[in-house]
Amino acid sequence: MSERIKLSRSHYVDEITEKLAGSEVKLAGWVRKKMELGGLTFVMLRDSTGVIQVVFREDKIGKEKMKEARKLSMESSIIVSGRVKLDKRAPNGLEIEAEDLKVVGYAEEFPIKPGVGRKFMFDNRHLHVRGRRVQAFLRIRSELIKAFEEWYNSHGFTRVEAPTFVGTAVEGGATLFEVNYFGKKAYLTQSSQFYLEAMIFSFDNVYTIQPSFRAEKSRTKRHLTEFWHLEAEMAWADLNSMMDIVEDSLKYAVEKVCERAADQLNILKRKFEPPSGRFPRITYDEAVEIAKRKGVRIEWGDDLGAEAEKAISLEFDLPVFVTHYPKAAKAFYHKICPEDPRKVVCADLLAPEGIGEIVGGGQRIDDLNELLTRIKEENLDPESYKWYIDLRRYGTVPHAGFGLGIERTARWISGADSVRDVVPFPRTPTRINP
Ligand code: 4AD
Ligand code: MG
Repeated sequence: MSERIKLSRSHYVDEITEKLAGSEVKLAGWVRKKMELGGLTFVMLRDSTGVIQVVFREDKIGKEKMKEARKLSMESSIIVSGRVKLDKRAPNGLEIEAEDLKVVGYAEEFPIKPGVGRKFMFDNRHLHVRGRRVQAFLRIRSELIKAFEEWYNSHGFTRVEAPTFVGTAVEGGATLFEVNYFGKKAYLTQSSQFYLEAMIFSFDNVYTIQPSFRAEKSRTKRHLTEFWHLEAEMAWADLNSMMDIVEDSLKYAVEKVCERAADQLNILKRKFEPPSGRFPRITYDEAVEIAKRKGVRIEWGDDLGAEAEKAISLEFDLPVFVTHYPKAAKAFYHKICPEDPRKVVCADLLAPEGIGEIVGGGQRIDDLNELLTRIKEENLDPESYKWYIDLRRYGTVPHAGFGLGIERTARWISGADSVRDVVPFPRTPTRINP
């Protein structure tokens, strides 16, 4: 079993249990709250694992240290040694009776206070991240990523990394961030897909979790300009096997998050049941009918907008796959549907509660001529897709893959208001600081 590192302390707060009553412990953390009561000073000491009451009394700690304790401000960093005492009046029935105090850093008046407003909190995100709710959202995110890694690592996938600086668009030119690369035009990657497609010829099944960038001006609750992207690509795969992999890995990850971050979900007062039962799979045609029936203005051929996705996802208790979109609504690399060339062999996964799309993927064009035709139809320059086209020249293989938005998925599980809540330092069109 692995063990926690313990720097400057003998225990973390969550390790202080009744069994330790009477023993000497040393804790390191920050002052969440301080109260003076009947000549005693009470400090709520916070570390990464929880909060515990520390009581300072002059007869135990001496005059000088008592003075220091009385001066403690919210968020000051301290190291406290003392004895564990059972006390029914303490918040968790336990407190530390301080015998020594070291003030490591006094805090100035802490700007994050109740009622300061959302914009102020994000302007001070570097301080906001200490809060209990923020911590809960970010723990859920962390458990989600960890669980996805576990699933892919144990199902025959090799983790690979793709570059961040790239020469061409994956998802179309409109959302590319341009950078000056030694006097030449380069872009920040929109998706690692094409690199993963290259890697399947070596590893069969590959995945990555890394940032993707989109120059999307839309200020919505589901868009970031930099988001974390779980992407996987499988050789010898078709659309159904791709959907099975999405479904199985997502169910595993969500279950693990609910298990391992149950207390975090509690802090957020989020009642969330991991989805059980097979995810419904409906076609785009059926999805459009549902949206129309629910009063969304949409015509066959349109991409499903946020409103349509919301209407469709509210029809189901489970995440729902929508398959076979019109060719015009999707990027050039999707395989044309053999039964109906107006459509492509793709699937998006829409999360319940109106969250909408969390996964986009499908089967790729594996035929050289079909790919060249699609590139021409979309008025793209074959020269800039030279290496990608090459993959169809040397032992091409049917393959499929997908991308899942980590923040959108974490938002769904945690019930967060926005994707901004579930990433430590969100990047949006109007925010690049802190
Ligand atoms: O649907 P998208 O654009 O698909 C691709 O990028 C494919 N190349 C992925 C692949 O097949 N390998 O993006 C995939 C997912 C979306 O379903 C969404 O969850 C997330 O990435 N996403 C965003 N999340 C936050 N902010 C944005 N601006 C996002 N754009 C996409
Ligand atoms: Mg998409």
